[in-house]
Amino acid sequence: MRATITAIAHSVPPTVYDNHWFAERIDTTDEWIRTRTGIIERHFATEGGVTDILLPAAEAALKQRGITPLDVDCIIVATVTPDRIFPASAAILQHKLGATNAWGFDLAAACSGFLYSLITASKLVESGAVRNVLLCSGDKMSAILDFDDRATSVLFGDGGGCVLIEPSADDNLGIMDFILRMDGAGEVHLHQKAGGSLRPPSLETVTNREHYVYQEGQAVFKAAVKGMADVSYEIMERNHLTADDVAWLIPHQANLRIIDATAERMGLSKEKVMVNIDRYGNTTAGTIPICLSELYQQRKIKKGDYLVLSSFGAGYTWGSILLRWSMEDAPMEEVS
Ligand code: COA
Repeated sequence: MRATITAIAHSVPPTVYDNHWFAERIDTTDEWIRTRTGIIERHFATEGGVTDILLPAAEAALKQRGITPLDVDCIIVATVTPDRIFPASAAILQHKLGATNAWGFDLAAACSGFLYSLITASKLVESGAVRNVLLCSGDKMSAILDFDDRATSVLFGDGGGCVLIEPSADDNLGIMDFILRMDGAGEVHLHQKAGGSLRPPSLETVTNREHYVYQEGQAVFKAAVKGMADVSYEIMERNHLTADDVAWLIPHQANLRIIDATAERMGLSKEKVMVNIDRYGNTTAGTIPICLSELYQQRKIKKGDYLVLSSFGAGYTWGSILLRWSMEDAPMEEVS
């Protein structure tokens, strides 16, 4: 049995913050942000937690598939900004959705959260352990951004997407192959200093601003360029695909320069690379499902298309997935 995506939707908070908003507050410029990252604007939630961002996408995905929350067997929430450290955001989302027959859990793989959880979900489905998994992947990065730190605050946004994973009706369509990697040596370059069991919250951690994203940009940049390009090329090569065979590269949206380097290594032209970093920034676990959902809504992916999804993020975690799209075109009422 092969698992596949049978429904997809995304959601972002309504409020948009453009680069000028930052330039008015900290020592940065629209020009620096655009040219160094590709970002023009991003969405930040003004209230609620990550489950509030994901809930509309979860409801839309179930509606699209024509099933109710009671039909969901398992919920995975991929995030590094859970509503609370415990209980799992999967439980909170289950309650908000009314998916009372579902069990579930959270998965923390940062920017690779969608890829890690897509493979976890597909293996649960392929083993026959569950009939379906509602995979909700996204982050409320504004909750852990230091808005006084120009090197990190301008990079991120809030948002996420949800997919339903079920057995594929056609063994030649669905999740075909994956490469997932991890290197914990990357922890020093990208982490949140306090708030966990190692360094619990205290007056000192708050005063020292330790509850925010800490990133050594250049070190992460170098590792990301190599990591993402390597696995994206490798998955194509070991499946005997050429750039002509691949319909779309759907990369994690951390920096346009990392995306360009990955596409170049694969020999892909720009028209085959999904980019929306200009509108959303880096939504961490949200980037890839948002990209996929937009492509679907725009009817730009066709049944049978080969898609390469690839990511790099904190951990380090990184990877690529080869997907052969199995859904029919979005109905006209869903086209945006
Ligand atoms: N506005 C203006 N100047 C800024 C700035 C900002 N928002 N942020 C940093 N700078 C400055 C730096 O202070 C530095 O100044 P200096 O030369 O006087 O010291 C200069 O710009 C260059 O900084 P640097 O960090 O070398 O820039 P960069 O080209 O590496 O770009 C990132 C920074 C963060 C955009 C880039 O490193 C990156 O994308 N890293 C990877 C992110 C990633 O993939 N994360 C993984 C997933 S979360």
